Amino acid sequence: MGQDDAYRDSVESRFLAACDAPLYDLHNKPFVLVIFGGRGDLSRRKLLPTLFGLYREEKLARDSYILGVGRGEMSDEEYRGVVRKAIEEFGPGPVEQKEVKAFCERVSYLRADAGAGEGYERLCRRISAIAADGRIESLIYYLAVPPSLIQPITEGLFERGLCAGALMPKIIVEKPFGSDKASASKLNQLILRHFDESQVYRIDHYLGKETVQNILFFRFGNSIFEPLWNRRYIDHVQITVAEDIGIEGRGAFYDEAGVVRDIVQNHTMQLLALVAMEPPSGFDANLVRDEKIKVFRAIRPMSNEYIHRFAVRGQYGSGKIEGQTIRAYREEDGVASDSNTPTFFAGKFYIDNWRWAGVPFYLRTGKRLARRVTEICVEFKQPPLRLFGRVCDTIEPNSLVLAIQPKEEMSLQLNVKRPGVGNEPLAINMNFDYVKSFEMNTRPAYERLLLDCLKGDLTLFARADEVEAMWDVVDPIIARWAKTPAEDFPNYEAGSEGPGASAELMKADGRAWRRI
Ligand code: BG6
Repeated sequence: MGQDDAYRDSVESRFLAACDAPLYDLHNKPFVLVIFGGRGDLSRRKLLPTLFGLYREEKLARDSYILGVGRGEMSDEEYRGVVRKAIEEFGPGPVEQKEVKAFCERVSYLRADAGAGEGYERLCRRISAIAADGRIESLIYYLAVPPSLIQPITEGLFERGLCAGALMPKIIVEKPFGSDKASASKLNQLILRHFDESQVYRIDHYLGKETVQNILFFRFGNSIFEPLWNRRYIDHVQITVAEDIGIEGRGAFYDEAGVVRDIVQNHTMQLLALVAMEPPSGFDANLVRDEKIKVFRAIRPMSNEYIHRFAVRGQYGSGKIEGQTIRAYREEDGVASDSNTPTFFAGKFYIDNWRWAGVPFYLRTGKRLARRVTEICVEFKQPPLRLFGRVCDTIEPNSLVLAIQPKEEMSLQLNVKRPGVGNEPLAINMNFDYVKSFEMNTRPAYERLLLDCLKGDLTLFARADEVEAMWDVVDPIIARWAKTPAEDFPNYEAGSEGPGASAELMKADGRAWRRI
């Protein structure tokens, strides 16, 4: 073997090693999944139906075990009733009762109070009993609980010796991870006192979305865009996470959190990082996360003056969405009638590194907007000469839109000549539609994330320093807005495109948002 071959083989084996174990491995790896908050909203809407879907499709080992943990008294049979209902309401469509029954036989309930030791005693005994025959290969704790319970649960597990052992337990922690950098870093310290970073899965369900993962695939699986992916060719980037829904009965939580903690700090930051990061030197969890963190650290820190000029907050008033009258945010249950909490954010970010210097990244997100749409639009610069005369004044710039949801597609806007004697341009789209192309709907985000956790692949989960770096970006905004209550709330109508100041932000730069 020549030197070149040896070199190539070593590089390739590194890439292959980084790409995780094939799915079928999981068949032979029964696990115990302990869900704290087993009766809560997240469990009912997402986790239990997703687990059922995976079980039904035989993607999980049949003799795995799911243990729902909650504070209240409940028999196993009653809990299975909760699970059945969750599958009916939120599951993957019509199901056969015998499949549900088989799944439910693998499910049981355990009463435990997060702060009381005896619950962990019971948990310890239950896990030992399930694992007694030596078949169980892994143990996962899913903390689908409010942030205030993370500490007592982590400590409770530790005191019973449940953070270590032959099953090498993993812990999944839901967002929001802390409420600012200081609290996130305290939480990290606490968790990392009892678990190793390699056992910790900080979840952001956006990373489980097929279309979000495709951002990296699109960028680094093609050679034609990467040379253009920089300040020389890109004019600006727009990231929109618009929702038509409101706060869905989570008034008390949301009024404390607001849009910056709920969406900007996590989902939009992750989208931004995937668009802006450098290629990692391998598709390995730490290499990918290192590159994302570099992006967060390069984001220009925001002074009060900067926030005043380039960040917009909004709160929805009453309005109409699809003919339905929507009440104002301040009238929602659990929300203060004079609440200062923003439900809309728009802002301009700069990433001060070699690739992106001077290219604005505009982010906007909000509740009760005209439509549900999550998309990234990369707008390219105009051609250098107005070669076709005046028509060049109206020529649309090339843009690449990565539509994340509800449309799942990519489209590239190009200009062509309209047939005829004149030189009239016509903007056309080259489209790729996931559902049409693959003749199937993309899989739910939680499915991918649960499977990755079972496999031990951390690539789509945030690392401790990553979460803290994201807080670093948004903390100044949260602090500034907390100190200076908005005088114009509510400042946008439910069903609109957000407050006027959001459009002004773009207009001041000679640009415009894409329509929601
Ligand atoms: C959650 C937020 O993380 O994401 C919610 O807490 C939001 O407020 C939701 O509605 C949006 O998720 P998706 O997948 O529907 O875009």
